[in-house]
Amino acid sequence: MNGKLVTIFGGSGFIGKTLVQHLAKAGYRVRVAVRHPNNALFVKPLGDLGQIHIAQANTRNKASVVAAVRGSDIVINLVGVLYESGKQSFQKVHVDGAGLIAEVSTQMGVDKLVHLSSIGADDEAASKYSRSKAAGEALVKENFPGATIIRPSIIFGPDDNFFNKFAAFAKMFRMLPVICGDTKFQPVYVGDVATAIENILSSDKAAGKTYELGGPKVYSFRELLEMVNKVTEQDVLLIPVPIQIAYFKAFFLGMLPNPMVTMDQIRSMEVDNVASGAGLEDLGVNPTPVEAIVPNYLVHFKPSGQFKAAH
Ligand SMILES: NC(=O)c1ccc[n+]([C@@H]2O[C@H](COP(=O)([O-])OP(=O)(O)OC[C@H]3O[C@@H](n4cnc5c(N)ncnc54)[C@H](OP(=O)(O)O)[C@@H]3O)[C@@H](O)[C@H]2O)c1
Repeated sequence: MNGKLVTIFGGSGFIGKTLVQHLAKAGYRVRVAVRHPNNALFVKPLGDLGQIHIAQANTRNKASVVAAVRGSDIVINLVGVLYESGKQSFQKVHVDGAGLIAEVSTQMGVDKLVHLSSIGADDEAASKYSRSKAAGEALVKENFPGATIIRPSIIFGPDDNFFNKFAAFAKMFRMLPVICGDTKFQPVYVGDVATAIENILSSDKAAGKTYELGGPKVYSFRELLEMVNKVTEQDVLLIPVPIQIAYFKAFFLGMLPNPMVTMDQIRSMEVDNVASGAGLEDLGVNPTPVEAIVPNYLVHFKPSGQFKAAH
């Protein structure tokens, strides 16, 4: 073990699971800071005995953040929400929480801070999510000027919330709605995001910099849905949905406890989500193509699963 202690806020989430595994393999001691430790127990076997610990922390509570950061050499903030619910507002989670982690990290002498934002973070963005990501970045830089900011495009991997969601939707409703079909995305592999963060930790070159992470190819949203349809062999109809109708439906869907889509997400979908400036290659990572990974984990959506259909 290299002995360094890395605290990962949100380490039990989609990126967190892969990152914990990468950092454990690289010999770090890992502390996973989440609100509900009992729901995060699955991270412990991702490393050697005693290498991974779970701490109870809510980024809306300063005392718990202080306790989680205490003794850490490195802090990584993966906490984020796709939609607001109750006390988990964009302001509280993406702005105040991010600023608090940065402030506490400085006060407690942490060497490195990595903060996860997203492409499209912009004070002037139409989407509240993107505006909150920009405000969070600003507070992080103000409180910990050497922080490295990571802005990924949509991330794919076995548990992702994109390809899996649309494959499941096609299976259930026998169609795929195409909203903003021409918007461009540059999907990036979760393993590449984790390797990029691992490389940031092992050098000082990335301090104070921002990286936009995208995969090797840019696709329109329609092309990504066509890919889902093709690799899952579902042969469903892709139905274009006019933007006004999409907003109308999202207005009602957004009121559900775990909404499929919200009005704010549609605002984001109207804007291209493509990386620019420094990216994966600058962090020593050769991007993995979508085609090499996605068909493997969408296999269970095929009508005949992993087997060829009987004739
Ligand atoms: N996935 C993508 O495609 C993508 C793309 C661009 C940017 N990002 C950004 O990358 C980051 C990680 O994304 P992800 O997909 O891994 O998210 P995720 O799967 O939703 O995981 C979020 C994590 O944050 C924890 N969390 C939520 N609220 C918290 C709070 N108040 N205090 C402490 N922990 C809290 C959750 O655990 P508990 O609920 O148990 O606390 C969970 O471990 C986010 O900032 C996201 O915006 C993701």
